[in-house]
Amino acid sequence: MSINIKRPNGTEDVTPKNVHKWHTIEKIARETAESFGFGEIRIPTFENTDLFLRSVGETTDVVQKEMYTVKAKESEFTLRPEGTAGTIRAMLQNGLLNEALPQRVYYILSCFRHERPQAGRLREFHQFGLEMAGSSSPAADAEVISLAKTMLDRLGLKNIELYINSIGCPACRAKYHEALRNYFNLRKEELCETCQERLIKNPMRILDCKSPVCQEIGKNAPLILDYLCEECSEHFEKLKKYLTDLDIEFKVNPKIVRGLDYYTKTVFEFVTTEIGAQGTVCGGGRYDGLIEQLGGQHTPALGFAMGIERLLIVMEKQDCDYLVPKKCDIYFATMGENALEKAMKLSKALREYGYFAEYDMMGRGLKAQMKYANKINAAFTVVLGDNEIESGIAKLKEMEKGTETDIRLDEKFAPAFEEIYFDKILDIMEEQGGDTLFSFTGEDN
Ligand code: HAM
Repeated sequence: MSINIKRPNGTEDVTPKNVHKWHTIEKIARETAESFGFGEIRIPTFENTDLFLRSVGETTDVVQKEMYTVKAKESEFTLRPEGTAGTIRAMLQNGLLNEALPQRVYYILSCFRHERPQAGRLREFHQFGLEMAGSSSPAADAEVISLAKTMLDRLGLKNIELYINSIGCPACRAKYHEALRNYFNLRKEELCETCQERLIKNPMRILDCKSPVCQEIGKNAPLILDYLCEECSEHFEKLKKYLTDLDIEFKVNPKIVRGLDYYTKTVFEFVTTEIGAQGTVCGGGRYDGLIEQLGGQHTPALGFAMGIERLLIVMEKQDCDYLVPKKCDIYFATMGENALEKAMKLSKALREYGYFAEYDMMGRGLKAQMKYANKINAAFTVVLGDNEIESGIAKLKEMEKGTETDIRLDEKFAPAFEEIYFDKILDIMEEQGGDTLFSFTGEDN
């Protein structure tokens, strides 16, 4: 039978076979963010369109070309193209910024951008991101960058370079815009239509236009670093010192301008060359004016977001470790109705102890049941037939070694199983040299 409704272009399914890879990233993301004092925030998938116009910016590619905007009755909403705008809106609406500063939140969420799909570029993608509000110190920039670096290291990723830049404050930006206008005006006719408009409204946006012609023209454009005011320069120098002190390697890339309008001062990206054109796995920076722009008090802030699908591509490429997917701990092969009822009861008790127990629900014969147990990689099996039910004792078989132990089929079954199971885990840990990061069952240690 052929399926004639397929998933939309630029979206992906995650099946149970692969979900442990997502769990690995999510677990490490949560643990890392929480160890830096960040708490999780959850926000709506859609917001009033105005929120993105006022934050991401009207002249950005994201707003001009990529938003999924839905008209519903009288209202208009947009599926979030990123997490920062909604998060800051939620922090303001829930009064978080009236509490002790800095406020630190992280999120794991889906984003939607109508881009041309390709490897590492989707229309629905997922971000792990975070925002810190309240500190104007370059120490906060170093902290947030250090968190991103820690996360990438904990995932086991290699060959990812950190690039930093400063795009200044509105004061230095005004002079820079003037220089850019002078530069681009000379080749104005060659720019794409959108960039001709950007030349008037926001010339810095021309620098991250995806059109190859605009990119070529922009190659020799003036650099923002030459236009920084004293305060922005000092901030940038201090950040470089802190990163050096923390042994975080970086390169200054004066061409990073980022694709969203809210940034001020520090911007940064973690980039790999190993996965083709979409190699930016993390992007972020400071946005000291955004909270005020959205109706709050002046509050400096900063953050970053990582693309989870891109992290997964790099992890795959670099053969990184994942949490081990949970496997069947014990499979009951049953013969007859009495055995089936016993298997149901014993499974219920085992599940209360936290074990993954299974029994036949397909009416298979004994041979087929054992074949199935092998296929799902069950750690232990028990065959239950009339003899076992009558005697109240069965053989618990450890599948890898083939060893068998007698076990009573009564209320002591689950604790007795646990004891035997622990011995197996200890054996495995010994074989692995005591490495407990990725546990046998995939559960937390
Ligand atoms: P962004 O650079 O637009 O920044 O996105 C962050 C990351 O999301 C990118 O580095 C990339 O890994 C991933 N990403 C972006 N677009 C796609 C796509 N179409 N398909 C797959 N992955 C993608 C932001 O979104 C800012 N809100 C980050 C931030 C937080 N800045 C301050 N706080």
